[in-house]
Amino acid sequence: MFSDLAAPKADPILGLTKLFADDTSPDKVDLGIGVYKDEAGEVPVLATVKAAERWLAETQTSKRYLSSAGNDAFNSATRALLFGAGTDAFTRSRTVQAPGGTGALRLGMDFLRVARPGGRVFVPTPTWTNHGHLLAAAGCEIVHYPYYDVATGNLRFDEMMEALRGLTEKDVLLLHGCCHNPSGADPDAEGWKAIAETLERSGALPFVDLAYLGFAEGLEEDAHSVRLLAQRLPEVVIASSYSKNFALYRDRVGALTIVGTNAADSDRAHAHLMPLARALWSMPPDHGAAVVAHVLQDKALAADWRRELAEMRTRINTVRAALVKHLAGAPRDYAFLGHQRGMFALLGLSPDAVRTLREEHHVHMTGTSRANVAGLNMANVERVATAIASVSDL
Ligand code: LMR
Repeated sequence: MFSDLAAPKADPILGLTKLFADDTSPDKVDLGIGVYKDEAGEVPVLATVKAAERWLAETQTSKRYLSSAGNDAFNSATRALLFGAGTDAFTRSRTVQAPGGTGALRLGMDFLRVARPGGRVFVPTPTWTNHGHLLAAAGCEIVHYPYYDVATGNLRFDEMMEALRGLTEKDVLLLHGCCHNPSGADPDAEGWKAIAETLERSGALPFVDLAYLGFAEGLEEDAHSVRLLAQRLPEVVIASSYSKNFALYRDRVGALTIVGTNAADSDRAHAHLMPLARALWSMPPDHGAAVVAHVLQDKALAADWRRELAEMRTRINTVRAALVKHLAGAPRDYAFLGHQRGMFALLGLSPDAVRTLREEHHVHMTGTSRANVAGLNMANVERVATAIASVSDL
């Protein structure tokens, strides 16, 4: 009977929504789920998205089915964004549209059972909480590797490389392409080179989660990781998302890109993705993908979108710098937050401190003390910094 079902555990990120809604303080600050907010605290629809939606409403003549691969123009524009149009990686890759980055991850994980049967998936500690759920749902065996030291705010690079020596050619290495979630700490160019070499030696397959392209330094700079891996290695799998860089969260726009040794191999892999997608969602929703394709294919709109993205990135970097500045006198040295990139700052607070922040200061973040920096603005950052400083010893 359904009445026998035990209540499931609340999702560590989505579960925060209710706590925030229940907080009646007029000063409450939401640093929970990863969405970009502007200075006024709104989650805006980009002007370029609005323009493309108007174009779509006027020109779309049919809503007939597309295919399990989704929107072809979107898929091609995604490969161009990832690798540059006409590059070797562009030519030897294939993309399938998916419902959000989560859909792309799940499709890719189902594909692993075909591409690397019996292989293990090496997952960074910490990582996005949903990775574990997705891998479990896809029936993948997980091996955790050390990635980031919450206590010091540094990458555990040497320990990570030591752990990666255990990779075999049957295995898969899950990586965050940029703006690691939750730590905001990424390997530098040398680090990526070392990771690529380890993968080259072991023959393991890199599976890159690229949900924040354009939020660290820029579109080209942030694509360095996937470009390097595609250049150095025969095969790469990339799950990318347009939730953040196009602010299309609820429209669920993502893509799974497979880079093979050559175009024929990628076509073979692509053919395997079709029945997997058919069993998961049959065909992905078109609206958001059609919007992205139109923006990326229209020179003027694409330039405007790059500007809108740069504005989001710049605002995040500005409030991050302000947070670090206002934390200068805190009992703990928070300078490390200044080196983290993208939406998130992992503060390294205890669960008690996080609870006190929420209950006494009305500042909401995940239980692991991951703060969405984009939830800050020049009006609240000093108060939030003072609150964080006051709970740093708990
Ligand atoms: C996050 O990490 O907050 C975002 O990726 C949103 C989500 O679905 O968890």
